[in-house]
Amino acid sequence: MAHSAAQRLAHLRDEIRLHAHRYYVLDAPVIADGEYDALFQELLALEAAHPDLVTEDSPSHRVGGPPVPTLEPVGHAEPMLSLDNIFSVAECTAFVERVRRHLRIENPFAFVTEPKLDGLAVELVYRQGVLVVGSTRGDGQVGENITAQLKTVASIPLRLQPAEQEAVPEQLVVRGEVFLSKKGFAQLNRQRQEAGEPLFANPRNAAAGSLRQLDPRITARRPLDFFVYGLAGGEELLFSSQATVLTALRRFGFPVNNMVTVCHSIDEIEIQYQRLLTVRPGLDYEVDGLVVKVDDLGLQQRLGATARAPRWAVAWKFPAVQATTVVEDVEFQVGRTGAVTPVAHLRPVLVNGVLVKRATLHNRDEIERKDLRLHDTVLVQRAGDVIPEIVKVIAEARTGLEPPIVFPDHCPECSHQLAKVPGEAVVRCINPYCPAQQLQKLIHFAGKSGLDLEGLGKKNVEQLVRAGLVRSIPDFFRLDGDQLAGLDGWGERSAGNVLAVVESRKTIPLAQLIGALGIRHVGEVTAGLLARHFNDLHRLMSADREQLLHIEGIGEQTAESLLDYFQDPENQEMIKELLDLGVVVVAGQDIEQQASLTGRVFLFTGGLQALSREEAKQLVKRHGGQVATSISQRVTDVVVGDKAGSKLRKAEEMGLAIHSEASFMVLVNQENGQ
Ligand code: IVH
Repeated sequence: MAHSAAQRLAHLRDEIRLHAHRYYVLDAPVIADGEYDALFQELLALEAAHPDLVTEDSPSHRVGGPPVPTLEPVGHAEPMLSLDNIFSVAECTAFVERVRRHLRIENPFAFVTEPKLDGLAVELVYRQGVLVVGSTRGDGQVGENITAQLKTVASIPLRLQPAEQEAVPEQLVVRGEVFLSKKGFAQLNRQRQEAGEPLFANPRNAAAGSLRQLDPRITARRPLDFFVYGLAGGEELLFSSQATVLTALRRFGFPVNNMVTVCHSIDEIEIQYQRLLTVRPGLDYEVDGLVVKVDDLGLQQRLGATARAPRWAVAWKFPAVQATTVVEDVEFQVGRTGAVTPVAHLRPVLVNGVLVKRATLHNRDEIERKDLRLHDTVLVQRAGDVIPEIVKVIAEARTGLEPPIVFPDHCPECSHQLAKVPGEAVVRCINPYCPAQQLQKLIHFAGKSGLDLEGLGKKNVEQLVRAGLVRSIPDFFRLDGDQLAGLDGWGERSAGNVLAVVESRKTIPLAQLIGALGIRHVGEVTAGLLARHFNDLHRLMSADREQLLHIEGIGEQTAESLLDYFQDPENQEMIKELLDLGVVVVAGQDIEQQASLTGRVFLFTGGLQALSREEAKQLVKRHGGQVATSISQRVTDVVVGDKAGSKLRKAEEMGLAIHSEASFMVLVNQENGQ
């Protein structure tokens, strides 16, 4: 009986897979919807009766598995990068020239152009031909596990379908874009409106929201779709070009966009750009540009990537959605690196579903180039997630009375003279003590891109600085509960919460600390690269130029900025203060271990055999615990070595946990998960 059920199940799965592929990928069904539904119902019923026969690649997963408690982190074997944007033929020509120079080749070589799909990048891992892990991009290095959610996307194959006789690679890691069709998006928003739920601003947000659902059955109800656009993780070596990769992936059953083209000149690329722009309104999915890739994978490899984006591809973006409004005021903001950025306050206007009130004006040159004046009517645009910007002044709307915008000579915050570095467009306040810069550094340190000190958002940091409680980064670790509680709008409870958060952040992953320091040119991605490379704060601090430049993805500017930062005695002193205050910096792999002794205070007494005192202390700190030097109410655990004296007796009287050196090591090793 079980044998025949297994056979019937295998047959049903093959049939369903075939018809689903014809329907969802090839758009060429050969049976009626009703017949397909009947097969699917039979599969579900049979699997319900034989749960032990459910396989990982069964089409039944399409309806969504049970809810998951959280989206677990998944590391990407190769970073998932972004693409650099270009906006004109001239920039496309410059890209091709750049590639040519880098490769030092004169002969023509091919490019592949593909629509740039405006959805969500995902990675799919197939082992022995079966989809085993699917993840989001995340920060590029580590994404979220959304396997169960991705299995509900009908056009993503759960199992590869190689041609007869064709071997399936042992492991295949593909990347592509999950998106919601325009129709699907409209339908979803209609349903949400009827249900009184908030509407999604655009198909991309809706796709992201749908995929990140903890309950895959909700994802299954969203009409998500998928296009594959490449491989990751070395299998490229099996192929010689992007075009052959896509052909193979199509053969394996993946949906590949049908507007992929091989081009041999900038003219041909431009034709593809114009073609896509022309057909765009008629497509049932959003595209926001044309991706141009060097076709030859060997050349791609030679070109490599920066920390942000590959050198072998660019996104030629379409002009963004625009609207007109009026500039009501211009404010000059001083950032944490001293850069003075003019920001326009606009009469609020809706652009592509988002209310735009401010736009960055970038720098002084930009204001002059656009000849922008106060009260001007302007064209504003939002491109993707980018901060809104002013495209141009509508000259016809001028009355002639618009006052010019005067860029300050002095810092609007500290009145120090501003300076312009030759070759840079930015004007900077170069006063290292400028309170605005200090404040922005502190806000950054406590903020989401820093240590994420909950309860210490922008407003509260401003308040602490005004009250004189925080003047420098280490001051966050010196906050005093009574002083905090006494501030306007604070109480014992909020003060206690903040102190607890600060305490819990005393064990910091190296990458997070590097990012939190706010070093110029060092964002999240670069911080991750540095942490992985050096694995240790002091090694990073003492790295020389050559060592820094040796790291793939670190360029001249970044290396220079790192050297400046870590050679500055004030910064060295600041970091030393942090460490003296009990901050422990852990390498990436140690993050898991960090919190296991949180809340426990260890006292060592007597001589240790295997460990030095210092090593023992470090172990406790690495696990999130604290070390005391004398016995008190704070102490929770005592580690007893040779010739322990009065402290042991006292600990026994107080009923504290007492460990031998050996049992202490067992404890920390267990906490290590070993
Ligand atoms: S290739 C190294 N091809 O654009 C990055 N990306 O800005 C290689 N995207 O995160 C990406 N369509 O999600 C590539 N045909 C296409 C694409 C595409 C959309 C997205 C992708 C990526 C983002 C980069």
